[in-house]
Amino acid sequence: MKVTISLIKADIGGWVGHSTVHPKQIELAKQKLSEAKETGLLLDFFVFHVGDDLQLLMTHKYGESNPEIHKLAWDTFVEVTNKVSKVLKLYGAGQDLLSEAFSGNVRGMGPGVAEMEIEERPSEPFIVFAADKTEPGAWNYPLYKIFADPFNTAGLVIDPSMHDGFKFEVMDVIEHKVVVLNAPEEIYDLLALIGTPGRYVIRRIWRKKDDLIAAAASVTRLNLIAGKYVGKDDPVLIIRAQHGLPAVGEILEAFAFPHLVAGWMRGSHNGPLMPVPMKYAKCTRFDGPPRVIALGFQLHDGILEGPNDLFDDPAYDLSRQTAQMIAEYMRRHGPFMPHRLGMEEMEYTTLPHVLKKLEDRFKMAEE
Ligand code: F6R
Ligand code: MG
Ligand code: MG
Repeated sequence: MKVTISLIKADIGGWVGHSTVHPKQIELAKQKLSEAKETGLLLDFFVFHVGDDLQLLMTHKYGESNPEIHKLAWDTFVEVTNKVSKVLKLYGAGQDLLSEAFSGNVRGMGPGVAEMEIEERPSEPFIVFAADKTEPGAWNYPLYKIFADPFNTAGLVIDPSMHDGFKFEVMDVIEHKVVVLNAPEEIYDLLALIGTPGRYVIRRIWRKKDDLIAAAASVTRLNLIAGKYVGKDDPVLIIRAQHGLPAVGEILEAFAFPHLVAGWMRGSHNGPLMPVPMKYAKCTRFDGPPRVIALGFQLHDGILEGPNDLFDDPAYDLSRQTAQMIAEYMRRHGPFMPHRLGMEEMEYTTLPHVLKKLEDRFKMAEE
């Protein structure tokens, strides 16, 4: 049976500030999606949040970029904005709904999307990752570890189905181009690109031996769409697991190291990506630190058996503690790089204004 997994998310107002969502937003979104399930449009759904981002996980039969499914998500975000965010004057009500009217597909309109159409396997475990206060390039490091690094994923060496490796689709989000690179043969080229996560973002991964889709990530960058700073686009990711794909534990393993990602306060700082359970998916210190949740599901005929809140485990305590030590270390740099992001990333903030203001006061330096 063919099933499409669509994960569509947006920040449509925070409670309080940009820290988390309001329970009434979740409630109304659930109601909208359960109506869509009753009509048969959806097979199943799960509404959740990470930080101030409302996440609509949906399963259906209609393929990727389906206008009806995207419209459902869009209408849900609009209704929750109007009936909850605006009424409660939540912070930044409707902030990610950049366009006035829906145009057939939410891609490029503000909300983030990760989607994959799959042939449901006899057993179909998959994991949904959602992060707040960071950007899509934040997945580059863990995706590389999971699908290309045998020091992370033992199966790349041990399992004959994975031994040929994986194909990575990398998107240049500035020039809006994509390139497909093969691992392990082209890992140096791959790393040369994805080591710049603000520009080159892994969008999809397939198993090489049979082109089975293994991972799909959101790649929207709101600031690039809007042309002015409207925040980082907190990313989502879907990864299929087991039976010739990385095991659940190999996928989670990549998140044990809280690597530095761009985002955090004002989308302008580097900080550690901290793996947390759903109950801690709330941003606090310096509007962060950036955090990620992992929800596991077993799919059966399109029904989502889950979630299994996978970072809700003492095995991740050390990663969380390490993340806090890194957070403390980075914070001590205050407005200095490399805590604050570099010039290119500051393009949509005040930096150009400061340079403009000082334009006439800059004199040629004497030899
Ligand atoms: C980062 C983020 C927050 C805000 C910060 C200032 O993605 O959403 O860190 O940038 O709280 O927000 P404003 O300018 O809305 O007061
Ligand atoms: Mg917000
Ligand atoms: Mg957010």
